[in-house]
Amino acid sequence: MGASRGEAFMLTAKGEAMDFKNLRVEIENNIALVTINRPEALNALNESTLCELKSAMAEFHDNEAVQVVIITGSGKKAFVAGADIVAMQQLSALEARRFSHLGHDLMRSIETCAKPVIAAVNGFALGGGCELALSCDIRIVSENARFSQPEVNLGVIPGFGGTQRLARLVGKARALEMLLTGDMIDAEQAYQMGLVNRVVAQEALIETATEMATKIVNKGPYAVRQVKETVRTGLEMDLDRANQYEAEMFGLCFATLDQKEGMLAFLEKRPANFIGH
Ligand code: CAA
Repeated sequence: MGASRGEAFMLTAKGEAMDFKNLRVEIENNIALVTINRPEALNALNESTLCELKSAMAEFHDNEAVQVVIITGSGKKAFVAGADIVAMQQLSALEARRFSHLGHDLMRSIETCAKPVIAAVNGFALGGGCELALSCDIRIVSENARFSQPEVNLGVIPGFGGTQRLARLVGKARALEMLLTGDMIDAEQAYQMGLVNRVVAQEALIETATEMATKIVNKGPYAVRQVKETVRTGLEMDLDRANQYEAEMFGLCFATLDQKEGMLAFLEKRPANFIGH
């Protein structure tokens, strides 16, 4: 696989080109940088953008050439300013439910992707944009990032998981304050409440996200996949079952060549040469 920087397509594991209208996908050093590219609508998520992101995530899940994914927005103003209000305005109740399911499917595919996904939030992350960031594993944001769940201003509630993931991440009271007031918070406030991992200057955003991604790419890929899977699955269980699950996953690591190589390399005082199984 080898779409290079600047090309608006990627090659699948089978070597087929994937063309995107609203995304740029650049793959380098096992890191896929996905840029949502609808600047005229501040990168708002319409149906075709949701579908394209979903196809890209399905490919990343299976494609060994991709080990970490970074999602960002085009331009310096917005990560994603929400679900597309123009596209939603005339929806019937059934169509809106279908649109919500499409968003949920995408967010879940990010959350359950075998590869870690980093949101590089470069500006407004509102409504569906905040929900997209919430479904990623790590959020690195620029100083001008702004977060809100402003759906109550539009007479609706969040439809891509905002009522659920926000409360799970920052707690019920903080989530309800954002959801009920629709107020925007800045990057520093988001950092203080644990909504984001790191705040950096906008010029350093992609570089910082890439540095973190590179660090992860250099670890044992099997262990990286299992860390994500075990944390996610364990959080949905009670502690005793979650610890039991961790023990099972820990045991499974010892069936891999990566465990043998990782521990041998430590004892031989050299870098490990992981193969991913
Ligand atoms: N959908 C469609 N178009 C959008 C959009 C959105 N969510 N957000 C911005 N745009 C469009 C604007 O309509 C405008 O288009 P035109 O130039 O054709 O008029 C263009 O992007 C630039 O936006 P503004 O002129 O409004 O820029 P601004 O700097 O004055 O304001 C903003 C920026 C504060 C982000 C403002 O655009 C805004 O409030 N956007 C809407 C945010 C929002 O309510 N998001 C939640 C959507 S609902 C949702 O997401 C539900 C869900 O969970 C599924």
